[in-house]
This record gives sequence, C-alpha cells and structure tokens, in this order.
Amino acid sequence: MASSVRDERAAARSGPRRVVVGVSGSIAAYKAPGVIRLLRQAGHEVKVVATQAALRFIGAPALAAVSGGPVGTGVFDDPAAVEHVATGEWAELVLVAPASADLLARVAAGRADDLLTATILTTSAPVVLAPAMHTQMWLNPATVENVATLRRRGLTVIDPDSGRLTGADSGPGRLPEPERVVAEALAVLGRTGDPSASQPLAGRHVVVSAGGTREPIDPVRYLGNRSSGRQGVAIAAQAARLGARVTLVAANIEAEVLRDLPAQAEVVQAPTALELREAVRRAGRDADVVVMAAAVADYRPAQVAGTKIKKHALDGQADASHRATDALSIRLVENPDVLAELVSDPPRRQGRTLVVGFAAETGDEDGDVLAHGAAKARRKGADLLAVNAVGEGTGFGDVPNRVVVLDREGNEVARASGSKAQVARALLDLVAQRLA
Ligand code: CTP
Repeated sequence: MASSVRDERAAARSGPRRVVVGVSGSIAAYKAPGVIRLLRQAGHEVKVVATQAALRFIGAPALAAVSGGPVGTGVFDDPAAVEHVATGEWAELVLVAPASADLLARVAAGRADDLLTATILTTSAPVVLAPAMHTQMWLNPATVENVATLRRRGLTVIDPDSGRLTGADSGPGRLPEPERVVAEALAVLGRTGDPSASQPLAGRHVVVSAGGTREPIDPVRYLGNRSSGRQGVAIAAQAARLGARVTLVAANIEAEVLRDLPAQAEVVQAPTALELREAVRRAGRDADVVVMAAAVADYRPAQVAGTKIKKHALDGQADASHRATDALSIRLVENPDVLAELVSDPPRRQGRTLVVGFAAETGDEDGDVLAHGAAKARRKGADLLAVNAVGEGTGFGDVPNRVVVLDREGNEVARASGSKAQVARALLDLVAQRLA
C-alpha cells in the first residue's frame, strides 16, 4: 500500500503524461470511457486505439468524444503515417482496458495484426493490461500461460475482479472498476516515471571498451579478430540512456556501428592492446563501472617490421627449390590482461570500480561453454562476467546474443538473451543493482 501511494505521488510529480488507451473486444468495453475520463481528469493526454472487435461493443464516436481525438484501429488506416510506430513512440504508457483473452494471446505471441497489437510490439513504454473475460477463459491453461509469459516479459497484467459476469455465472474475470484500473496503471507509470528509476546510472561514469584490437606485424598487416564492437556500443548507448557519463574505448570499430552511440558519449580510439590498456586505465581513474567488452589480443608480434615484409625475403639466402618448405615465423609476446589488472591494480584510488568482463567461448573437450566461463570468472576476478557461446550465427556481428552472467566465484546470477540492446539493458540493470 505504502509503495502504491508513493508511486502515485511520483506519477503526480512527473506531471501530465501521454497515455495510449487500448480497447479490445469484450462486453466490458463499455467501461473504457470511464477509464479515459479519469485519465483526462487527472490531466493526462489520451489517444485511443481500439480493435475491430471492440467496436462491436462500443462505438468509435463515443470513444472519440471522451478522449477528445480520433480513434485508431487498423495499421492500414493511414499507412503513410506509419501509425503503429508513431503511436508507440508517442506513448509514455499503454493501458489496455479491457484486454480480452484473444488480445492477451495475440500480445503473448508477438502478433501485430492490428494497430493495437502493433503499437504494443513497437513501444518502449510500460504496458498495462486489464483483462476481462469469462472465468473459464481466465482459468484456461492457455490464458494462464499467456499471462505468465506477459508478466515474465515485464508487462503488467492486473488481476481481474471476482463477481457477477455477463450471464448468470460469477467468478474471477470481471474488469475492475475504472478507479482501480487507472490507479494501478499510474502506479506503474510512477515507478518508471520516477527519475531515479529510469536513470539509475545518473551521476555515474561508465567506461566501456569495445571492438577488436589489431596487433601490427608490419605497416600493412596485423593480427586481429572478428569482434564488430556492436555489443559494447550497445552497452555504452544504453548506459548513456540510463543517465551515465560514458567513455567508449574503441578498438577498430566501423563508423556505421559507432553511429548508434549518443552524441554526448566520449570516444577514445585505441587500436592495439597496449593502447587500449592505457586508455582504459586513464578513463578508469574516476570510473564507477568498467565494462570490458573488447576482444583484446592475448599476444602481439614481438617486433613490428618498419617496412613491409616481402614474400620472398628469403630469396638469395636459400635455394629457390627449398622455398615451398620455407615458413615465415612471427614470434609473439603476451599482452597484459587489462581486465585482470583492473581487478588486481585498480586505477581508481578512491572509491571502488565495478568491473564487468565478457567471455566468448566455444566449448571444447576440456569443458562446455559454462565450465570455461566459470573457470575464467574465478581466474579474472571481475565482479560480473557475461559468458556467451560464439560460433556460426551467434555472438559476432549483427546477430542476437545470449549470455549467462556469473559472479567472481563462477556462480550464475542471471541470464539474458535477445537483441544486443536487450542484453545491454539486462546487464546494466544488474550493474545498477550492484551499485545501489
Ligand atoms: N581481456 C583483457 N585483456 C586481455 C584479454 C582479454 O582485458 N589481454 C578481457 C576481455 O575484454 C574480456 C575478458 O578479458 O572481458 C575475457 O576475454 P577472453 O578473450 O574470453 O579471455 P582470455 O583471457 O583471452 O582467455 P582465453 O582466450 O584463453 O579464452
């Protein structure tokens, strides 16, 4: 109770908000105008999006009149306006009241076959669903699973009221009165609208290394790796969005990838392991968090030739007939382990820096991906280590990512999967929790 009072206060403090009210096909659609009226009375701006089925229960003119604007229905009403994207971006909150069993199923399945479901799929605003249906439908395992899926994904599903339903029957499934629907929806908005909740990294300095180092062999050749830097850039961008001051230490990242970074992030170029170590340690002097997402070469050529090494450099020293067996050897020396050094010899003298590492593993005869990850977590001692399997189709480049996050003892603390932005968000939520 205390927290919902605080949440409503937070919502009130943050002033009028933009709310999309979705209405789906249920007899309880007649209560939607009550919900819209309460939101507008509280000073919020409302846009109504109704499904075709909803309009069989309540007329669009009634919804337009109470909301003070047109009612959207189909994605093809005005294709040029790309309504679902525009509506999803406009929304600071999406509240569906009533949400029918069919609507819950479509949202759970990720469908986007009308303006309402397409808006829900597009928006980054919190989504609150207020179900209304017959008890049998609410208790059906299909609906129970859909509700669990939606809640797991972070959508809020309000519990329906119990009581008399449309027919002679009664039980859980009634749409709560508009006052409760609005109070619960605004409480969600209050939680996410509270600046300390939406910007948990405000006032923090987050340093992210990303990309892959290139260790020069001669002026035109190098030893490198396939890291694109996308995951690290996604983390830097997300950290900035969560309020942090961000320094990206970039090892050979394409300009097209760096474009995802907000303008206020500082970018320091560090093409080799030694330069990266230097840049990370310098930026790390006042860092609250260092995320080592860069693929740092473990070895570098012991000597860098000042001029291009010629293919037939051995000509004249050996008989041409021996050339096929002549091999060119490059002696390598070990690079410093930047991450391990951050833990054993932190550049920040006052205050503590949270250190996050990545481990790209393939698994081999000595152990699977997680076993290697756990051993690495214990060896490196980072506060968090995000382990991901790499290989064809996973890990590198513009592909979804899946990570298991371990603590310094190698114990699993979380799993995250999805786009690189979603993985970044999940990791930074863990970071924010630990900093708090
Ligand atoms: N790392 C680092 N300095 C290095 C090598 C790696 O800071 N010289 C960091 C990476 O940025 C990453 C973590 O250590 O956060 C793990 O990198 P990875 O290449 O998986 O580990 P290695 O220690 O190189 O282990 P191995 O190659 O044997 O798997």
